[in-house]
Amino acid sequence: MPEEVNGKTPRRKENSITAQLRGIWRRISLEAVGAVVYGGVDRRLELSDAIEHALKHKVPRHVNWTYCFGGITFFLFLVLAATGILLTLYYRPSSSDAYESVKYIMNDVRFGWLIRSIHHWAANLMAFTVLAHMVRVYFHGAYKHPRELNWIAGVFLLALTLAFGFTGYLLPWDQKAYWGTTVGTRMPAAMPFIGDFMKLFLRGGDEVTGRTLSRFYSLHVVILPMVTTFFLAAHFAMIRRQGISKPM
Ligand code: HEM
Repeated sequence: MPEEVNGKTPRRKENSITAQLRGIWRRISLEAVGAVVYGGVDRRLELSDAIEHALKHKVPRHVNWTYCFGGITFFLFLVLAATGILLTLYYRPSSSDAYESVKYIMNDVRFGWLIRSIHHWAANLMAFTVLAHMVRVYFHGAYKHPRELNWIAGVFLLALTLAFGFTGYLLPWDQKAYWGTTVGTRMPAAMPFIGDFMKLFLRGGDEVTGRTLSRFYSLHVVILPMVTTFFLAAHFAMIRRQGISKPM
C-alpha cells in the first residue's frame, strides 16, 4: 500500500493530476482547432464584424419584459421545428399506420414520449405567447404608421400558427382527432358561395378519410413551415429596418 499524504494515497493524487492535465490539453486543443477553423472562415467571409455589430446593438431603454413575447414565440417555433423533425422519423401518415405509429412513439421509441410531449406543450404555449405578443403590440400602438405592414405580416403569422394547430390535431388519428376534424372542416361549409368547395378542398372528398390525413400532414410538415419561414423573415427584416417602437 502506498503511504498516505494528507489522507490521500499518492496514486489517487497522480490520477487526479493526470485527469486535470488531460482536461486542460483537451480544452487547449479544442480552442486551437476552433481558432484555426473559425479564423480561416472569418478571414474569407469577415463574419466577426457582423457578429460584433449584432451583439453590441443596444436594447432601447423603454424595452421591458412585455417585449419578450415575440422572441419567446420564435423560440417555441424553433423547438416545434426540432421536435417535429424528430417525430417524422417514426410517424407514418396513413390511415392504417398513423395511430399505431403514435403509440409506438409513446411506448417504444427511446424518449419518444418526451419529444412528443415537448411538441404538444410548445404548441399550446406558442398559441398563448403569440396572442400575448399581439396584445402587447396593440396596447403599445405599435401597429400604427410606419409599422402597418408588419402588423399585416403578424396577422398572417397568427393565422399560420392556428393552421399548424388545426392540421396537427388530426395527425394522431384517434377518435378525438377524427371527430374534431370532422366538426372543424364542416365549419367552412357555412361560408356563402365558397363554403362547399372549402370543405371538399380540406377533406379531399366528402368525408374525413386517409386522403384528409395526407393533406393535413403535407400542410403541417411542408407547406405551413415554408410559408411561415417566409413571413417570419419578412417580419424580422421589417423590425430590423424600423427598430422597436416606443409606447404611445
Ligand atoms: C409566429 C408568430 C410571431 C413571431 C415569432 C413574432 C416575433 C416578433 C419579434 C421577435 C418582435 C420584436 C420584439 C417584440 O416586439 O416582441 C416582433 C415585433 C412585432 N410584431 Fe411580431 N411575431 C409574431 C406574430 C405577430 C402577430 C400575430 C402580430 C400582430 C398581428 C405581430 C406584430 C408585430 C409588430 C407590429 C411588431 C413591431 C413591434 C414594435 O416595433 O414595437 N407579430 N414580433
